Amino acid sequence: MKKTIAVLPGDGIGPEVTDAAVKVLQSIAMRYGHTFHLKHALIGGSAVDAHNNPLPDETIAACEASDAILLGAVGGSKWDQNPGHLRPEKGLLNIRKHFDLFANIRPVKAIPALLGSSPLKEEVAKEVDMVIVRELTSGLYFGEPKRRTEKAGVDTLVYTRDEIERIVDQAFEIARGRRGKVTSVDKANVLETSKLWREVVEERKAFYPDVEVEHMLVDSAAMKLITDPRAFDVMVTENMFGDILSDEASVITGSLGMLPSASVRSDGFGLYEPVHGSAPDIAGQNKANPSAAILSAAMMLRYSFGMHTEAAAIEEAVMSVLEDGYCTGDLSSAGKQVVSTERFVTKVIEELERE
Ligand code: NAI
Ligand code: MG
Repeated sequence: MKKTIAVLPGDGIGPEVTDAAVKVLQSIAMRYGHTFHLKHALIGGSAVDAHNNPLPDETIAACEASDAILLGAVGGSKWDQNPGHLRPEKGLLNIRKHFDLFANIRPVKAIPALLGSSPLKEEVAKEVDMVIVRELTSGLYFGEPKRRTEKAGVDTLVYTRDEIERIVDQAFEIARGRRGKVTSVDKANVLETSKLWREVVEERKAFYPDVEVEHMLVDSAAMKLITDPRAFDVMVTENMFGDILSDEASVITGSLGMLPSASVRSDGFGLYEPVHGSAPDIAGQNKANPSAAILSAAMMLRYSFGMHTEAAAIEEAVMSVLEDGYCTGDLSSAGKQVVSTERFVTKVIEELERE
């Protein structure tokens, strides 16, 4: 297959970890006979420095001419005092909005070699294998009006039927390729948007008779995530609940440096990025854990290109390197040999070439 990928390294460790992911993609291309054209472009603080715009037009054009976007991370103290429109994270918000990337997908899966770093009991943590599907472009964070006076603040929570339908369908489709269960999380006992949400889930489920559906209130879901996350397969929820629950779920696997994510729309176009930020404290030191970025590239192969075998090969290679006893500094407590970013990537590629 021939695919064009926009590569947006961003700031801090962003360039180091995207370089790592690109090397892995190149190895996959060689081995499986694909051609990946890469278009590098600026986003975030580095784009503010070069073009006074966290999402320059050239970057949008590069993404529009691509089949998917691979992103590192944005941000750093250098730009913290900038006005809103010149802040690095504005680049991320704008790119999601521009491409209408309404579905945020975050897998949460036990990493056998790192079970010791999970706050959960090992026998619980080792069986966790779930995906959180969060609505990303509507809800409370985007609601109008917003208002602030001395005595009061107002945020508005709106969801339309169409917005709910498309995210719920996305979750059903993902569940079909997995264990076939969707848990829809809402607060239908008090919120009108949640009542509508629940209604739409009930309507859509008729189109997916092979998928089992359950509804759960967000407070129960928050408890269940730390008492028995094994019960979940695909969880789908609105923007704010998803923001909080996905961060809660992320600690289950034990390391921020391991977590990939995707933001996609229905036609398969998507943006793939690690969950972590630009880690300025370790930037430029060849210390960053490239796993989250590499696993994000694997998600891109799976969700945007339908390359399931290739995606699984990458995931297995990363797990093998950890099992062989190598890790980056962030996982030093796991009792393994600490290696540099570059060395870790070399190990992953060696593993890929062996498979
Ligand atoms: P962070 O995720 O960048 O770092 C938190 C801690 O985890 C740091 O100690 C860092 O060294 C470590 N860490 C993160 N990723 C790592 C990796 N791959 N390998 C090894 N260690 C890793 O979050 P923080 O410190 O709150 O934010 C730093 C900057 O990143 C800020 O400017 C923030 O706005 C931005 N940020 C950007 C995000 C994005 O681009 N999507 C998401 C979160 C934060
Ligand atoms: Mg969050």
